[in-house]
Amino acid sequence: MTSAPIIPEKKLMEAARSAKENSYSPYSNFPVGAAVLLEDGQIFKGANIENASYGLTCCAERVALFTARTASPAKIIGLAISIGKQTDKLPKESLVPCGACRQVMSEFLGAEVPIYIDGNRSFTMNELLPYSFKLP
Ligand code: THU
Repeated sequence: MTSAPIIPEKKLMEAARSAKENSYSPYSNFPVGAAVLLEDGQIFKGANIENASYGLTCCAERVALFTARTASPAKIIGLAISIGKQTDKLPKESLVPCGACRQVMSEFLGAEVPIYIDGNRSFTMNELLPYSFKLP
């Protein structure tokens, strides 16, 4: 009997939560952690890294994606995100990736790749950004 591959969602979310612990967010006091799962099973983490020049801040999702891609060109099969200090008290509209990260995610995530969000439901890339920009 064959069965669908089990995506270790719990392990991936634990990685996102642990990345959040190393967030550098002294300006917003709003830590975010993300974890990318590659098809070979490797997991790469990212946290939001802020800067005194606020606009230079990099979101957790992009740090995780760039770290994963730098280490390996393997296909990404899952992304987990953990947002905020008291995730359970945040409104659902705060428990989603920002628009800039969605565009970057769309570069590396297939349309049906699951995006697990702490305290929210799972989304696919297609749901989060159906009309991503692509060069002709
Ligand atoms: N942030 C992320 O890391 N990911 C998102 O998708 C939304 C926002 C960070 C950026 C900034 O450090 C803090 O959360 C507050 O906006």
